[in-house]
Amino acid sequence: MKKYLATEFNNLRSKQDLIILAIESSCDETAVSVVKNGREVLSNIISSQIDIHRRFGGVVPEIASRNHLMAISNLYEEALKQANISPKSIDAIAVTYGAGLMGALLVGVNFAKGLSYSLQKPLIAVNHVHGHIASNYITHKDLKPPFLCLMVSGGHTAILKVSDYTKFKMLGSTVDDAVGEAFDKVARVLSLPYPGGPEIDKLAKSGRNNIKFTVSNSLKSTLNFSFSGIKTAVINYVHNKTQKNEKFEKADIARSFEECVTDELTSKVTRAMEMTKLKKVVVAGGVGANSMLQEKLKAGAKKIGGEAYFPELKYCTDNAAMIGSIAYYYLRKGTGKAELDLTARPTIEL
Ligand code: KG4
Ligand code: ZN
Repeated sequence: MKKYLATEFNNLRSKQDLIILAIESSCDETAVSVVKNGREVLSNIISSQIDIHRRFGGVVPEIASRNHLMAISNLYEEALKQANISPKSIDAIAVTYGAGLMGALLVGVNFAKGLSYSLQKPLIAVNHVHGHIASNYITHKDLKPPFLCLMVSGGHTAILKVSDYTKFKMLGSTVDDAVGEAFDKVARVLSLPYPGGPEIDKLAKSGRNNIKFTVSNSLKSTLNFSFSGIKTAVINYVHNKTQKNEKFEKADIARSFEECVTDELTSKVTRAMEMTKLKKVVVAGGVGANSMLQEKLKAGAKKIGGEAYFPELKYCTDNAAMIGSIAYYYLRKGTGKAELDLTARPTIEL
């Protein structure tokens, strides 16, 4: 296949203002956004499928793909309209190519390739996790690397060192479940609707921290996490009570679980800050919306003379503005260059 996009990409690197049209479809949100110079969101359109998947208690991949397909074209039109620009003014097309659900990713990737070809604009392949980090660049206009990042989403839990916009190093990660997954499973056993994280967050506020849930001690000396033990402990607790016909308070379970998990995240992040001497920690991913995590991490960082940054709530969960933001830095640094043979990748390295 003819490699025509790379030349365009290289020509753009030194252009003063860059307008990027970004597409995100890795899970159950179809999103298109127009972002100027990595920080200024000209439009941010999201079509959430949460109500559809709630009926099934989680995301059904085939249904997600079909709904992305039905939504994407209109979202593109709407994103241009709200940004008040014509397709000609776009400098490059950015798209999440992984990690995520294969069928869901393919919808975004193929739409982006079609646009890139028809508009003759360079294509930028974006790693979804990098996008989540960049959601903070939109919210905190002066934020610059280096900093630590706590990545907490439905698929990832990790502490990263971000030494530059496109330089990431993993310092620790979960050895089993992602923290968002644990929130969702605990919510499910408590018969709360999908997605469970926000439901646990709400319910915990009226509960007491009176049940002793713990996380594994074996990772204590590392920056790694394990959440499958506490998830199973909560499930067993509920099943046990149900079998014995004993009453239990859902709010107390939510509160006790959330306290334990947020303590663990806070203590490992503050340790990483002390180890690396980095004073800023930036939170990324859906669980970053958790109110208890926000409180504890802000207090924990302050205690050691640091500061915790969170994205504005609407940029915590999946959106395309964050993809447009990181794509700008990819472009400036000369990475992420893609051609029309780009394909989706369900799993990718950091
Ligand atoms: O980053 P995200 O939107 O999608 C992935 O890339 O995975 O994260 C989704 C996760 C879900 O597990 C959801 O339950 C969780 O973020 N979440 C929360 C809250 N809001 C969303 N977890 C705890 N508290 C919240 N307020
Ligand atoms: Zn995400």
